[in-house]
Amino acid sequence: DIDRLDAIVAMAPVIPVLLFDDPESAVEIGRALVRGGLPVLEITLRTPAALDCLTACKAIEGAVVGAGTVLDIDQLTAAVACGAEFLVSPGASPKLIHAAEGSPVPLLPGVATAGEAMTLAEHGYRRMKFFPAEPAGGAEYLKALSSPLPHLRFCPTGGITLEKAPKYLALPNVMCVGGSWVVPADAVKARDWARIETLAREAAALARP
Ligand code: 3PG
Repeated sequence: DIDRLDAIVAMAPVIPVLLFDDPESAVEIGRALVRGGLPVLEITLRTPAALDCLTACKAIEGAVVGAGTVLDIDQLTAAVACGAEFLVSPGASPKLIHAAEGSPVPLLPGVATAGEAMTLAEHGYRRMKFFPAEPAGGAEYLKALSSPLPHLRFCPTGGITLEKAPKYLALPNVMCVGGSWVVPADAVKARDWARIETLAREAAALARP
């Protein structure tokens, strides 16, 4: 559902990409991000506790919680069952695209080339993750896709920082950016939620597309 996805990505210029190890700190981090102005949380399914963390974060007032790194139908089904409000994948396989067709929750599938974007467009997608943004060619590369593919909008993710975000957010085909920089591992280790809130506040203040 493109309208639902557009409403979610319009909530903030940055979607934090999160790797959570336990529900208790996940909720603390999620709260700090929401306080800082980043309500859309992408919880990646890369840790054993990810689904429990997703469930726990659903209780955070003001948060919109989605699942990232959704690779197959089992992960898609599990994330939807836990209440994920959106799904993100690093790429799009035919099986995943097929599974997403029956999903009640919108999928933001990953692409890195014009051909992949065209394949997804054939399946009705107009919103995609551009991944891995920096290694794949950065803002210059993504900008070059905008004239042949003007109907598509991207959320670039991968290697983006507060400093690199503005050049993406200035592009006509970018709707927001994703990144893990707002939750540094050392801040999590130190349980420094105030620092995460500050990083979120800086990210939330970036000019929106
Ligand atoms: C992702 O899953 O989108 C990336 O791992 C996030 O990239 P980053 O850690 O470089 O921000």
